Amino acid sequence: MFIYFIRKNLGDFVLEFEICPSILSADFFNLGKEILELEEAGFRVLHFDVMDGHFVPNISFGQCVLESVVKNSNLFIDIHLMVSNPLFFIEQFFKSKNQSITFHLEAANNPLLCIEKIKNLNCECGVAISPKTDVKKMLPYLDLIDMLVVMTVEPGFGGQSFMEDMLEKVSYIRGLKKNLRIEVDGGININNINKAYKKGANWFVAGSYIFKSDDYKKSFEGLKKAVFS
Ligand code: DX5
Ligand code: ZN
Repeated sequence: MFIYFIRKNLGDFVLEFEICPSILSADFFNLGKEILELEEAGFRVLHFDVMDGHFVPNISFGQCVLESVVKNSNLFIDIHLMVSNPLFFIEQFFKSKNQSITFHLEAANNPLLCIEKIKNLNCECGVAISPKTDVKKMLPYLDLIDMLVVMTVEPGFGGQSFMEDMLEKVSYIRGLKKNLRIEVDGGININNINKAYKKGANWFVAGSYIFKSDDYKKSFEGLKKAVFS
């Protein structure tokens, strides 16, 4: 069971949040050092973006990198599979008890089978939806998953601008599900994290905002403070 960092009342219910650095924006030549610095800064979750050059037009990193991260870090690993045919990759990306696996609804031929496969591994399961995907397509799966990931950029690249209109998807789902973890992924910074929180998001992925800073603790503290601004 994962214990959240901070509690705060939002309307009539309690929404707890986490900030998840995406190592897509890390210095890969010094990846180990970067991850240890994130741990020292107080982060507890690592967002791990897997891109296959097919579902998205970019290739990032895969199982070997995951294996060495898991061996050397205590962070919870939030794996975001941006791959075609996710069913084929699920077992390969299951490396620890301290992780979740998220696949894209658009990439799965049979989302139910993917969910079942992840849950049978005793792993937390997330489903991500790209900006053009109608959030209502998630309705059949909401009771079966641990996390919905609402993409606030087109998947494939770090450093893009936040799409504020995606937050309508967040508030729609939050209206239906008070306890579901809702992660927003893409373009998060200190100027928009509060808007996402107010709409009901509670896990926030931030890549370029964190890694462009030379003081990860300061950017972590800044983001945490900005959630309630
Ligand atoms: C986009 C990735 C995101 C993203 C986060 O395809 O899933 O995790 O890179 O990075 P920023 O914060 O730079 O958008
Ligand atoms: Zn991601």
